[in-house]
Order: sequence, then C-alpha cells, then structure tokens
Amino acid sequence: MPRPIIIDCDPGIDDCIALMAALASPDEIRLEAICTVAGNVRVEICTANALGLLALTGHDTVPVYEGCDRPLTEAPVFADHIHGESGLGRVRFPDHGRSARSENAVDYLIHRLRDTEKPPVTLVVIGPSTNLATALVQAPDIAGRIDEIILMGGARREGGNITASAEFNIYADPRAAQTVLQCGRPVAVIGLDATLQLRCTPARMQRLRNLGSVVTNTAADMVDHVNAIYGEVYGAEGAALHDPCTIAYLLAPRLFQAQDATIEVETVSALTRGHTAVDIHRLGGKPANAKWIDGLQSDQVFDLLLQRLARL
Ligand code: RIB
Ligand code: CA
Repeated sequence: MPRPIIIDCDPGIDDCIALMAALASPDEIRLEAICTVAGNVRVEICTANALGLLALTGHDTVPVYEGCDRPLTEAPVFADHIHGESGLGRVRFPDHGRSARSENAVDYLIHRLRDTEKPPVTLVVIGPSTNLATALVQAPDIAGRIDEIILMGGARREGGNITASAEFNIYADPRAAQTVLQCGRPVAVIGLDATLQLRCTPARMQRLRNLGSVVTNTAADMVDHVNAIYGEVYGAEGAALHDPCTIAYLLAPRLFQAQDATIEVETVSALTRGHTAVDIHRLGGKPANAKWIDGLQSDQVFDLLLQRLARL
C-alpha cells in the first residue's frame, strides 16, 4: 500500500529532483499534494516551478497549494544565488494551463489533517517550515493526525551553508522549525551532516546524462547549474542533493544512519540564528524530540534515486 505524503517545498533545483523521485515511486509513495513556501525563491515562483515540474513529468493531476510568502517573524531570505532567479538555474519547464488551487497551503493542511475520512499523512518538509508551523499554531489539534514529519534541515558537524552556524531551511524560518520540532509527532531530521555526503560528482552526472530522457536531461541541466555554483563558492566536487535524501529515506531508511536526539533551534541570536543544537548525548537532560539522520550510504542512495528518475 503506497504511503500517503504531502511535500512542502520551495522549488528550487534539489526540490525538483525530490519531487521527481517521489512521482517515480507510485508503489511506495502516493503524493497527495504539493505545498509551496517562500524559500529558495519567492513563493509565487516556487508555485510556478511546482506546476511546471508536474507538467514536465506528466503528473498534472497532483494539486498544488501555494503557502506562506514570508517566515513567521523574520524578513524573507532567499537562495537565488544558488538556484538562480527562476529557481531552476537556466531550465524552463514546458508551458501548461494549470494554476494552484485557490485554497492556500495552510488551510489545505488543516482541512486535510482534520479529515478523519482520510488516513494520517506523512509530511515531507524540504523548504522553510513556515506552512506547517502556521497550521500547527492555528490548529494545534492537527498534530495528532500527522503520521510522521520528514524534514530536510539543520546541521551538527557540518555547521551551516547559509551562515557558519545554520543550514538554509532552518535559518530562513527558525521559529517555524522550532514549532515543528516541538509538535510532539515523530520527526526525522535529515541535515547537512547526511546530505553533504550525496554529491553529484562528474561520474554520477554522466550516469544521469546517459539516461537520456527529457525529464532526466532536465534534471541534469538543473544540477549542472548548481554544480557550477558549488565549484565557485564551495570548491566542492558536485552539488549536494539535499532534498532528494528525504525521498530516498522514505524508500530505503536502511541506507541511512539515524539516532535519537534533542534538537532545538536558536531563534534569538543574530550571529547564530537558525543554529540547530543537536543533543545526541542527552547533555541537556531533555527527552529526545527527533530522529537525527547524520549519515547515508552514498553510492546506494544515488543508485536508488537514479533508478527512480530512469522511470520518468
Ligand atoms: O540547505 C539546503 C536546503 O535549502 C534545501 O532544501 C535547498 O532546496 C534549500 O531550500
Ligand atoms: Ca528546498
């Protein structure tokens, strides 16, 4: 029985790869809806990119709900220096006639989670946590209807990628991340400590190119853009596929290293805003509130994602 999920995202190049992997796994994943949130780029661009990706992959029956255009309290922060102004590097998705649903993502999340006719749902959060946090504040009762939250964000050993001490998704809306981490539901947090182990090296990019479909060539074109940026900014051999790690974790958790942790977010200090204090030794004496995913079997995870994209 495929697992019902909702992906809350800010596409964004790696978001698009995660969406492709989810759409290519219908036996394991039933993608009920995509919610968009301001993050990598403005929310209306994220929405257009989500709709365009569904048109590209031929899945235009999946509904898209546009969400928050700014964090709970902070001023918006974008990552167009990585993803480009369009959020897709130099890629353009095919034209299509679709629009997002008229209901905003926060109201949709509340209504879906309150619908007792439907099963509990897994929320995959791969952008700032603003939509889910807003829904939890407006309707605390929905927490019990969340099966699990799988969140890409945070860092422990790796420090940060938007500042020296914070990862982008958490930095962009630290209070939202704190709210989600305190909601009492099972949360698997996949941070930079894991995702930076999944790099798009030249050899892996060639394997992606060799698949040769319109969709996989589009994926390669998007990743080429981020690879070039990483080359300049980070000197790394290949971009990290951050968001697709959440889908690979859903499909094959055995490929990931996880441990219980108490994760808290810095929401006051300007210097360390969005820092995730990941306490894996219970030093603070507080109960664990999350599963901290801090490692993965890189070759097997990449092979799994490639095998799924090859279906598109
Ligand atoms: O730090 C990586 C995260 O920030 C990813 O979700 C990427 O899409 C950006 O949103
Ligand atoms: Ca993202």
